[in-house]
Amino acid sequence: MCEADTVAVARSFARSLQPGDWVGLIGPLGAGKSVFARAVGETLGVREPMPSPTYTLMNVLEGDIPVYHVDLYRLSSADELEFAGIAPYFRSSGVCLVEWADRIRDQWPATGWLVTIRIADNTERRISIAQLPSGP
Ligand SMILES: Nc1ncnc2c1ncn2[C@@H]1O[C@H](COP(=O)(O)OP(=O)(O)OP(=O)(O)O)[C@@H](O)[C@H]1O
Ligand SMILES: [Mg+2]
Repeated sequence: MCEADTVAVARSFARSLQPGDWVGLIGPLGAGKSVFARAVGETLGVREPMPSPTYTLMNVLEGDIPVYHVDLYRLSSADELEFAGIAPYFRSSGVCLVEWADRIRDQWPATGWLVTIRIADNTERRISIAQLPSGP
């Protein structure tokens, strides 16, 4: 799908989210994880810009419910998640959007969503959305 479709899918997905939901975003550099996350945030009522949390690891945004935008690209170890104080947000009542969630697979919550984006070409992406826990 093209970028406008990515945004449209993210918006309709966002409308199904509940407070406390956790969303892992998986895909290579430039896949569109941030594009997807921003569209979700906007739909959840975030009015401010959503700058990349690559260096801060996490940005807290105020929407209709709190939105925690996490980017684990620079995370060097899963322990850092605890040190950086991010882990508790995985169990909060806001919506948690976690780019590079595949880096902390053993710390995924019991329930949540996984959005996987594959790059087909410059402008085309394949997006799959799965619910955690994935079946047996
Ligand atoms: N179909 C598409 N869906 C989403 N983004 C697209 C699409 N086609 C092109 N793009 C472009 O791809 C880029 C995606 O950037 P984005 O920052 O969202 O990626 P990312 O997965 O968050 O990367 P990073 O790992 O660096 O955080 C943007 O420049 C966007 O305009
Ligand atoms: Mg990003």
